Formats: sequence, C-alpha cells, structure tokens
Amino acid sequence: MKKIVLFIFKAIKKLLFIQWTGYDLNFKSINYVIGHYRLYELIKNVPGHIIQLGTGSGRNSLIFGSIIKLNNQTNYKHVYGFDTFSGYPKNVLDSNKEFDPKSHTDFSFDDVKLRMNQNNLSNEVTLIKGLLPNSISKFLNDSNTKGFTPGKLKISLIYVDCNDYETAKNSLLILKEFLSKGSIIALDENRLGGETKALVEFSDLLNLPIKQWQYGGVISSYLEVV
Ligand SMILES: C[S@@+](CC[C@H](N)C(=O)[O-])C[C@H]1O[C@@H](n2cnc3c(N)ncnc32)[C@H](O)[C@@H]1O
Repeated sequence: MKKIVLFIFKAIKKLLFIQWTGYDLNFKSINYVIGHYRLYELIKNVPGHIIQLGTGSGRNSLIFGSIIKLNNQTNYKHVYGFDTFSGYPKNVLDSNKEFDPKSHTDFSFDDVKLRMNQNNLSNEVTLIKGLLPNSISKFLNDSNTKGFTPGKLKISLIYVDCNDYETAKNSLLILKEFLSKGSIIALDENRLGGETKALVEFSDLLNLPIKQWQYGGVISSYLEVV
C-alpha cells in the first residue's frame, strides 16, 4: 500500500515538473564518491590494504575497489570487506536497542559478491563473512588469504562503518599492530555514537588527535597514524 501511494505521489510530482524522476547522478551521489576519492588520495602512497569494518551492500567496497583499479594499484592494494552479510548480530542488537534488526538484511554475501564480480572487481575486493572481531583473527591467520603472508598484513586505511562501539573498539585493537605509518582510520558516522566513542578511546591509546573530515561525503572524523 505504502509503495502504491509513493508511486502515485512521484507520478504527480513528475507531471507537475516538481521533481526529476530519472535515475542518474545527483549531488548526493557525487558528493559521496568524491568524499571517498579524497580519502583515498590521502592513503594512495601509504603501503597497505583497505579494511572495511561493516560492508553492508558493498557500496564502499565498490567505490574503493574501482579507485584501486583506476589507479593501477591492484597488485598491492586490496579491499577486505568484513560483515555478517545478514544484518546486525544478536550481541550488537542487545547492546544497541535503537538498532533496527531488519536493517542491512537485504543483501546476502552472494549478492554482494555478485555485485563485485559484475563490476569486474574480484581482483580488487575480497569479502569476509563472519562475526567481527573474531572474523579478523581468522583472516589474519589464513594462509590462503591473498595479498599478504599470515601475520604480515599492512594496512593503509580502516574504514569503520559497523555502527557498534564494541565491534569497532575490539576490531581496532586487533588491527593496531598492522597499521602503516601514514595510515588512516576513518569513520562513516552521521550521528555521533559508538564508532566515535571507539575512535576517541583509540586516539587516546595511540596518543594521536582526531581530526574532523572536511572534504565531502559521509565521513565524520578520522585519525592519521604518524
Ligand atoms: C551501516 S552498514 C554498512 C554499510 C556499508 N558500509 C555500505 O557501503 O553499504 C553496517 C554493517 O555493519 C555490520 N555489522 C555490525 N556489527 C557487526 C559485527 N559485530 N560483525 C559483523 N558485521 C557487523 C552489519 O551487518 C551491517 O551490514
């Protein structure tokens, strides 16, 4: 019913020339991609891969994978996207009563993998299904993981978009020893919450300041490892 009402509403707006209804680029999508591109520019020459904590539908993996490919850096930069690919796990829902259990349940691991394959990004993006932070420990010791020798990972960017304090904090603690000099930890968080709390604590631990992102897109704050 809701869909029919929205459809009629959209058709009326189109007839009255109030709203552009073609699907194409718009300011929001351009801003989103440019924000990511500018972030990439900061780590382009920093050794190491991109770790994504919370991959969802694979939107960010698609963008970073494409940028890697366009920069001819496929041989030494890779996106590793972590997620359950079935929505927030129970422990995360239990400690974040405001989260919607139905959020991020629309796309399975296979859907997101297909998205990467259809965009010819299977050499740039690897998806890792499982519960964070445990899935990281498994990934670090997996001798079949392409791109690094077990125990010798290098990271140039951690993109945090899992929305949960414990997940972000515990994942960062595991990944800390692999961060390259010049690497960045960036938050995709509109409303300050668990991820920001985790980054504040991490910045205290590393004794590094948190910076506010000012270059477009959806990134709120970041930390640069010096
Ligand atoms: C906001 S979405 C990520 C959106 C994504 N960055 C994109 O580009 O579309 C948050 C994701 O974090 C995942 N997530 C949250 N906590 C997790 C945990 N402990 N382990 C694995 N995945 C988790 C959820 O499954 C969800 O897909």
